[in-house]
Amino acid sequence: MRSITITISLWAILLFIPSYAQKGSDPKMNQFISNLMGKMTLDEKIGQLNLSGAGDITTGETTSSDIHQKIREGKVGGLLNIKSVSKIRAVQMIAVEESRLKIPLLFGMDVIHGYQTIFPIPLGLSCSWDMKLIEQSARIAAQEASADGLCWTFAPMVDISRDPRWGRMSEGSGEDPYLGAEIARAMVKGFQGDDLRKNNTIMACVKHFALYGAVESGRDYNTTDMSHIRMFNEYFPPYKAAVDAGAGSAMASFNEVDGLPATANKWLMTDVLRKQWGFQGFVVTDYTGIAELTEHGLGDLQEVSAQALHAGIDMDMVSEGFLKTTKKSLETGRINKSDIEKGCRRILEAKYKLGLFEDPFRYCDDNRAKTEIFTPENLEVSRKIAAQSLVLLKNDHRILPLKKGGTIAVIGPLADNKLNMTGTWSVAADFSKCVSLLSGIKAAIGNETTILTAWGTNILNDSILDSRVSVFGKPSFRQNRSQKEMIDKAVEVAQKSDVIVAAMGECAEMSGECSSRSDISLPENQRELLKALLATGKPVVMVLFNGRPLTIPWEAAHIPAILEVWFSGTEAGNAIADVLFGKVNPSGKLTATFPRNVGQIPIYYSTKNTGRPLPEGAWFMKFRSNYLDVPNEPVFPFGYGLSYTTFDYGDLKLSTSQAKGNQAITATVNLMNSGKTDGAEVVQLYIRDVVGSITRPIKELKGFQKVFLKAGETRPVTFKITPEDLKFYNGDLKYVWEPGDFVIMVGGNSKEVKSAKVNWQK
Ligand code: BGC
Repeated sequence: MRSITITISLWAILLFIPSYAQKGSDPKMNQFISNLMGKMTLDEKIGQLNLSGAGDITTGETTSSDIHQKIREGKVGGLLNIKSVSKIRAVQMIAVEESRLKIPLLFGMDVIHGYQTIFPIPLGLSCSWDMKLIEQSARIAAQEASADGLCWTFAPMVDISRDPRWGRMSEGSGEDPYLGAEIARAMVKGFQGDDLRKNNTIMACVKHFALYGAVESGRDYNTTDMSHIRMFNEYFPPYKAAVDAGAGSAMASFNEVDGLPATANKWLMTDVLRKQWGFQGFVVTDYTGIAELTEHGLGDLQEVSAQALHAGIDMDMVSEGFLKTTKKSLETGRINKSDIEKGCRRILEAKYKLGLFEDPFRYCDDNRAKTEIFTPENLEVSRKIAAQSLVLLKNDHRILPLKKGGTIAVIGPLADNKLNMTGTWSVAADFSKCVSLLSGIKAAIGNETTILTAWGTNILNDSILDSRVSVFGKPSFRQNRSQKEMIDKAVEVAQKSDVIVAAMGECAEMSGECSSRSDISLPENQRELLKALLATGKPVVMVLFNGRPLTIPWEAAHIPAILEVWFSGTEAGNAIADVLFGKVNPSGKLTATFPRNVGQIPIYYSTKNTGRPLPEGAWFMKFRSNYLDVPNEPVFPFGYGLSYTTFDYGDLKLSTSQAKGNQAITATVNLMNSGKTDGAEVVQLYIRDVVGSITRPIKELKGFQKVFLKAGETRPVTFKITPEDLKFYNGDLKYVWEPGDFVIMVGGNSKEVKSAKVNWQK
């Protein structure tokens, strides 16, 4: 063993490879980069650490300047949010023809849920619980983005969030660490494929590391504070899963973690990310993350840049803190040369892995841009995935699916609103090609049905609020008519119809970055319209657009049918129509709890029992953990979603009730499609660790299967459970399982489960 170590170290010295070069990495790459770094000046090395934001899209107040000159001088490592092959080629040309060492640039963009073919917002995607489709969505996004010149995406966003006031909940996969981790893996695989060198794969960037989804009071960019036990058990798993899946880069979050902003947090960026998890890629800040450390109160730009570098940040997005101050910090001894070289090497490694040194124009093929973007095949997949992400929340009297024929009133501010179909982050979308709900319905019904339509009400009554949610160019399209006039017209239309489809909810920019809301109910003016529509006595189906769970107890009690459609992307209207008319039987299940009111937030299914739990089914008991004014239960729990058919769960059978050591046991239920329609059910496995060395949640998701059953069909659904599924981070942050009793639960949502007990000894 010792002689091997000596040989390896000698080999490393021979190649001038410092110890921070990737362990076990490609020796050819290491040699290439060492040679290159041998020729680089200090300024050029610092230049690689600089990510400029001179692109088409800005997501902060600052933009970069003199980009071309800086590229010539080797002061730029990459550019973000510049779009199209021609623009990217032109800029890359400057780098490889006019800069001294001809080092190619990285081109990154927020390709979050599709490129030009837009898929549902990530929160919607997660409700499909379909890892293959989710991976495929990322694969198509990578294919299209790379065909348009890009090689790097700022995705997946894997922040767990249990606070729907936070607008960015729309960008993640909801509240659960297990599901979040599965999705993180699928996304990284989809973006990066099996070989980053291929010109149709792009580098992933897992973000926002870490805990961004736990900002206090749901206010964007706010402080985060939580115990390490909670971090490791409930918030870190998706980041770690993305790292394990080989994500090439990671992005630091804006918020603080344990009293220090992530951007300056060495424990987070080096001890956890690199030392514990073995992350091999590079870390980029979020937009002006370094400069913002000054606002956090950590010092001036020079000081905070040194802190970020020490913490383990490799690339500075837009702040130019590294560019402007690291040389000075080196002179004063605040940082070492190796601090700079570490980052420089990691960024050059990324470029090498992407094949940019072999061919800087690898992603600049005009033909691909013409033939691979927004193809009919991609749109078909988008439609399919969108339909899978819709969640049927209520369907009294089986109003849905709608029958063709007769007259349908399609009413509401989101009924014919192309621009608001894609939701947040649809940077490369062509909104003119989005399918509105009205168009989708019209295409679905052919000539058999009469469609009447009316605006009904604006999304928001308050015009000031409305202007705030139209900043990024996706306005709500308010109408300058009185509320009464709009409602009267809608009622007139409704009265002539057999059924009403009410398209309500949020417009696209009411969720996403810097779109926190303290009141997440449906705006009062929309509820007024719903009341007027209900008063006509016609059946009402609410098609609910939104980027987060909303507080809709009134709607859930009064509207007979509710279809949650999120923002489902380019094909939204077609996909919604597929479900409304029963071409697709809905099978989406919620991945975030729908609270009754904001007072219940944070709310999630995997709570702790507390010392004074409220008995199941009770509302209020003195000296129990509950509220005076509202039940503990949400309106819709995690994992919930209906179908046009019904599924019956048989009793849960375990292969043994006494397990030992590392054996695997099985948990089986007989699942029956007891209705008249074929359909898919997401069968969920939860486990409770009854007694622990620290308190454990009342249940945790540990598996799921999406099972398709023909009407009348019964099939056993079996989960294999091993001690791996029982592990958690204990009080010493050791990942262990502890012997004892475990309750195994299987069901169609987190509330309604069949359960059985197993005693598991070491
Ligand atoms: C967002 C990131 C995004 C970056 C670049 C920031 O404002 O927080 O998620 O990747 O901008 O556009």
